[in-house]
Amino acid sequence: MSTVLVIGASRGIGLEMVSQYREAGERVIATARDDAGLARLAVLGAETLRVDVADPSSVSALAWQLDGEKIDIALYVAGVMDRGGATTPPTQQAFDAVMHANVLGAMQVIPQVMPMVEAAGGVFAAVSSAMGLIDDVSASNAWLYRVSKAALNMAVSSARFDYPQARLVVLHPGWVQTDMGGGAAPLTVADSARGLRTVLASVSPDDNGRFIHHDGRRSDHW
Ligand SMILES: NC(=O)c1ccc[n+]([C@@H]2O[C@H](COP(=O)([O-])OP(=O)(O)OC[C@H]3O[C@@H](n4cnc5c(N)ncnc54)[C@H](OP(=O)(O)O)[C@@H]3O)[C@@H](O)[C@H]2O)c1
Repeated sequence: MSTVLVIGASRGIGLEMVSQYREAGERVIATARDDAGLARLAVLGAETLRVDVADPSSVSALAWQLDGEKIDIALYVAGVMDRGGATTPPTQQAFDAVMHANVLGAMQVIPQVMPMVEAAGGVFAAVSSAMGLIDDVSASNAWLYRVSKAALNMAVSSARFDYPQARLVVLHPGWVQTDMGGGAAPLTVADSARGLRTVLASVSPDDNGRFIHHDGRRSDHW
């Protein structure tokens, strides 16, 4: 039985990952920031922790709450969207909301959980987005979100040098039917999560620092 940690699991892709890993018989530790989210996770048989990734004082409790754990798979799923383009400056409030959840939270989590992932020789994966690929940009829509995911990609790719006993990767879940992805998205959340689980089971030492799509494609230029 593996131990899986899912950060930002109250709904959408994170909740579905918890559901599928539990169904597969894995031990899951999952985080949410409100009572309703924690209750949905408890029903699935996950061990729950209350974490607001945008609040460093909340995230800083992770290290002692997970003290002594060996984590085979750690997933950073929490994320916030902003849809504005480059013709309008982002407000300070929007900038902080997106950058804190998508970037600062991951940079708070990585140093705390990586020793536990290394202890298991495991994998850390951040759910990012193809919208953060500089090599593949087609428009400025979701400008701030794109910037945040490009920054997240660098946070993960550069951190790998400090944790040689583990592998760190960035994942693109596809365009998925969630609150964020909307009803027009082609992928169901179940199919995306199944793909991500298959990818996570296949991550090799050669993949360290790579950007991997839910269908297993690896992006070398990003
Ligand atoms: N859906 C897509 O098409 C798509 C495509 C590419 C990438 N992604 C990425 O996939 C990830 C999951 O997205 P989704 O589609 O499942 O979105 P979602 O349904 O909107 O869920 C977002 C999740 O992030 C959590 N979150 C946001 N801010 C948080 C904070 N400060 N602290 C703790 N948790 C926080 C939310 O918790 P609350 O319930 O507490 O708000 C929720 O669990 C995101 O990183 C997103 O950028 C999604």
